[in-house]
Amino acid sequence: MSQPTDTPHRLPVVGQAPPLGLNADELEAGIRRLKAERNAVILAHYYQEDELQDLADFVGDSLQLSQAAASTKADVIAFCGVHFMAETAKILNPDKIVVVPDLEAGCSLADGCPAPAFGRWLEKYPGHTVVSYINCSAEVKALSDVICTSSNAVKIVKALGDVPIVFAPDKHLGAFVKKQAGRDDLVLWPGTCMVHETFSERRLLELMALHPGAEVIAHPECHEGILRHAHHVASTSGLIAYAKKSPARTFIVATEAGILHKMAAEAPDKELIAAPPEDESCACNVCPHMRRNTLEKLYLALRDLQPQVDVPEPTRVRALKPIQRMLDMSV
Ligand code: 13P
Ligand code: SF4
Repeated sequence: MSQPTDTPHRLPVVGQAPPLGLNADELEAGIRRLKAERNAVILAHYYQEDELQDLADFVGDSLQLSQAAASTKADVIAFCGVHFMAETAKILNPDKIVVVPDLEAGCSLADGCPAPAFGRWLEKYPGHTVVSYINCSAEVKALSDVICTSSNAVKIVKALGDVPIVFAPDKHLGAFVKKQAGRDDLVLWPGTCMVHETFSERRLLELMALHPGAEVIAHPECHEGILRHAHHVASTSGLIAYAKKSPARTFIVATEAGILHKMAAEAPDKELIAAPPEDESCACNVCPHMRRNTLEKLYLALRDLQPQVDVPEPTRVRALKPIQRMLDMSV
């Protein structure tokens, strides 16, 4: 599952590279050429492989990527991220071609909240406003009143005012929102991210003891055992901005390890330490879904305009409303 590393931030690649026989330089040149020919834009999340982030026209967190998808003039969006992100781009751009390097790049949060079960669960909460984290399928979005991301969840729940709310599918982000928004009554769907779930409080405390001046910075998908020690909790882009501006020299970073690439570039004078999972032998802080995407697969996606992400029109129209509501509430 992993491949040899030659730099500290180089991450394992999951999945089989297509047998193209092209080296990395040839692939990158090919991707640039195809991008121009296709009038394509490459959008990438911070959890992608370094080389995909470096090739992208825009790298951002989930909200920024949705905003970039909403405003692009390109004919083709090549989305280096996971399925729900590309699906959101397609919902916003029904007339554009949206391709992904690997259609199987899923998400444990989205997979853990199937729309039929979610619909039945919602029947228990009539009259509640349904706030869904963007890490969910188009079908779940279509059952929601407003979408949020990790960077605007607290703001959106606060802005909804004193109405009963169900929050899905991440129970850790939901618990964080409860605290921050002073909304103890939020009803939470019990989903988790398989990556942020594995960070170990015991090993974090050991690291903190070894680096007494370090600040812990954490993504709100982490469980409370990590968040209670965090000096700052924010989305991926928020964590990078914080590492850049904080006077601290050392940071223990509790989120997916792909973030270290841009964080190191933005804050080159800082020492960045990846928060450890409980199992020392496991690369559990690497998202296996994100890591399915490779340079080769991106090249093929632009060459063949496959695989494409599509959303049935009735679902798209219903899912667009809560996404648009989020975008309107985020300006
Ligand atoms: P953000 O991009 O909003 O920080 O969320 C991270 C994430 O889990 C993407 O899957
Ligand atoms: Fe989903 Fe977690 Fe991977 Fe993000 S890091 S895509 S939330 S499984």
